[in-house]
Amino acid sequence: REKLPLHVYLERMTLEEKIAQLIQLAVPFFEGATDAGQITGPMASLGITEETVRNAGSVLGMAGAQETIRVQRTHLERNRLGIPLLMMADIVHGFKTIFPVPLAIGCSWNPELAERSAQIAAKEASVSGVHVTFAPMVDLVRDPRWGRVMESTGEDPYLNSEFARAFVRGFQGTDLSGDPDRVAACVKHFAAYGAAEAGRDYNTVDMSPRQLREFYLPAYKAALDEGCEMVMTSFNTVDGIPATGNAPLMRQLLREEWGFGGVLISDWGAVKELIAHGIAADESEAALKAIRAGVDIEMMTACYAHHLAELIGSGEVDEALVDEAVMRILQLKEKLGLFDNPYRAADPEREKEIVFCDEHRAAAREIARKSGVLLKNDGVLPLKPTQRIAVVGPFARSGDLLGPWSWTGSQDAVVRLADAIGGKLSAPAGLTVAEGCGIETWAEEQWTEAAAAARDADVIVLALGEHSDMSGEAGCRADIRLPGAQLELVRRVHALGKPVVAVLFNGRPLDLHGVFDEANAVLEAWFPGSEGGLAVADLLFGDANPSGRLTMSFPFSVGQVPVYYNAFNTGRPQGAPDAQVRYVSQYLDIPNEPLLPFGFGLSYATFEYADAKLSAETMTPEQPISVSVRVTNTGAVAGIETVQLYVRDVSGEVVRPVKELKAFRQIELQPGESQVVVFELREEQLRYYHSDLSHSSDAGAFVAFVGANSRDNVSLPFRLVK
Ligand code: IFM
Repeated sequence: REKLPLHVYLERMTLEEKIAQLIQLAVPFFEGATDAGQITGPMASLGITEETVRNAGSVLGMAGAQETIRVQRTHLERNRLGIPLLMMADIVHGFKTIFPVPLAIGCSWNPELAERSAQIAAKEASVSGVHVTFAPMVDLVRDPRWGRVMESTGEDPYLNSEFARAFVRGFQGTDLSGDPDRVAACVKHFAAYGAAEAGRDYNTVDMSPRQLREFYLPAYKAALDEGCEMVMTSFNTVDGIPATGNAPLMRQLLREEWGFGGVLISDWGAVKELIAHGIAADESEAALKAIRAGVDIEMMTACYAHHLAELIGSGEVDEALVDEAVMRILQLKEKLGLFDNPYRAADPEREKEIVFCDEHRAAAREIARKSGVLLKNDGVLPLKPTQRIAVVGPFARSGDLLGPWSWTGSQDAVVRLADAIGGKLSAPAGLTVAEGCGIETWAEEQWTEAAAAARDADVIVLALGEHSDMSGEAGCRADIRLPGAQLELVRRVHALGKPVVAVLFNGRPLDLHGVFDEANAVLEAWFPGSEGGLAVADLLFGDANPSGRLTMSFPFSVGQVPVYYNAFNTGRPQGAPDAQVRYVSQYLDIPNEPLLPFGFGLSYATFEYADAKLSAETMTPEQPISVSVRVTNTGAVAGIETVQLYVRDVSGEVVRPVKELKAFRQIELQPGESQVVVFELREEQLRYYHSDLSHSSDAGAFVAFVGANSRDNVSLPFRLVK
């Protein structure tokens, strides 16, 4: 059909057609769809008419070139003005080629890899008919009980912001209109979803505006500064008001203060959930609050469809609000080229060539190698091809390495860890394999089999973890140890007295009691994706040298949670010179410190830090200082080190974190090689939100810390003079 200027569509649309443009529906509503697509929320009956479906603006959870073409064609035949559907889906860490989960990608400390993964995901998704991805998820996370920590890049606002930018660049490229191999990004979940109380999904968030701005908002802002087209509201409250009906957050902060002009979408069902939250008496009030707050698209409830017309009729809602929302959606459709070609890049032939191609799989393997974090090694690693190895544990032959949000990926295509290890050995007979137990179940016969498999082995590789459903949305756990059956397996394997290497496949920092002390080496592989088995074998045998560094602290035990590196000191910190034995901020039964801190990770190389110094002890706004340190690879193999710079403001107007990451640099050093790493430190890096929410720095004393992680570093005091 002839393409019209956008304002003409708007003029020609009836009020009902405009309101229907604001609804987003799951796949089963659409004629021509052959399967249910991805269902990620309650599928209650919406009570909407045929007419609303015919005029709906977007669909979620559909993919596949043939499927999307068929549904779009049917829709266009039925839609009076020929306005194409926007196809949105959760392409979170890959489409068919599944990359490690974002928390793992964060541990690479390499935003370029994040960008590459997103670019490949966009290309595969786009050729399969997807226009918008519900990613990146950039919620700052501190509580590993929360299942969705696997979707975030961790606990640091600066690092999260770097990754947010990289993911958006990867998804959208620099010219979304001109590049059909890209998709529009939707940053989520605005705002502060990661701070759900007690780590329970959808739970309350209550924090000071300063905390919100300083820790939680920067990554969303970074994504928007990078041009991210869409924002998704979060399920939680922010200062007492659920985000989806929160006008101060959405209208004032997001739209007015930050100038966001793109499409704001609710999360699944979140408009109607304003009723359960207790800020709306019924669907009509929920619609009123959401449209006033600035929500353009209502995902999978129908408060707008049922009530906006009457709210406009009664004068409670200005029709201009609906027009603005419709216009933003039409603009996005136009930007994506859908009025010219409603099928955009969807192409069944190209789809076969591109999706899960060798090049993409090679990138997934490379990124998985860079995401694994070596947590412990007494020298048992790397393994040798001549060793006899028993691979024991529920993940030995499991394809469940993709993790949550990999609905389009295929577990069948995953190379199993045991097979990948077998491929490294000089003699095939050197490999024995047994499950030993289920992920959550124990059977004595399985143990008998495992004991037999381990009998002649030189080393036992224990493949342990959580199944995918134990994290992700609504995947929260109060006990974040490995399930009891696996702890029993570790206990019995340890008792055999052979060297043990534990490999962990999971979506959150775990309480490693019952594993860490019992194993000679521990490799955190996370959910490493389609090529994860191969990548982990590469790391275990030293064909790749582990270089991942944690971006979320591993708690000593769940009782410490939330435990994160950039915390405040309190007035009675442990270790203060005048601290009494009892009256300090501490636990009686466990340490204050996490088991493994932010930034931590081992390598098969060893790195020595020396000559840490400042260029001057005084900085001014005009005169930055530099921090330098010499790093030497004192090991026998080449390795990648991530040199980290932290700062503490010693006398702020408000209390300041004991350390804040300000910069990092990744360097690769050959054995014996040294490099001097120099960071420039400027006054603007010392700014923060004051009690009046102004953003500035304080003159006075600071400390810079440079080193290998947030715990092991050298402190260098300096002053800011203004
Ligand atoms: O994008 C997701 C969101 O992160 C959680 N709820 C469902 C949405 C759509 O699948």
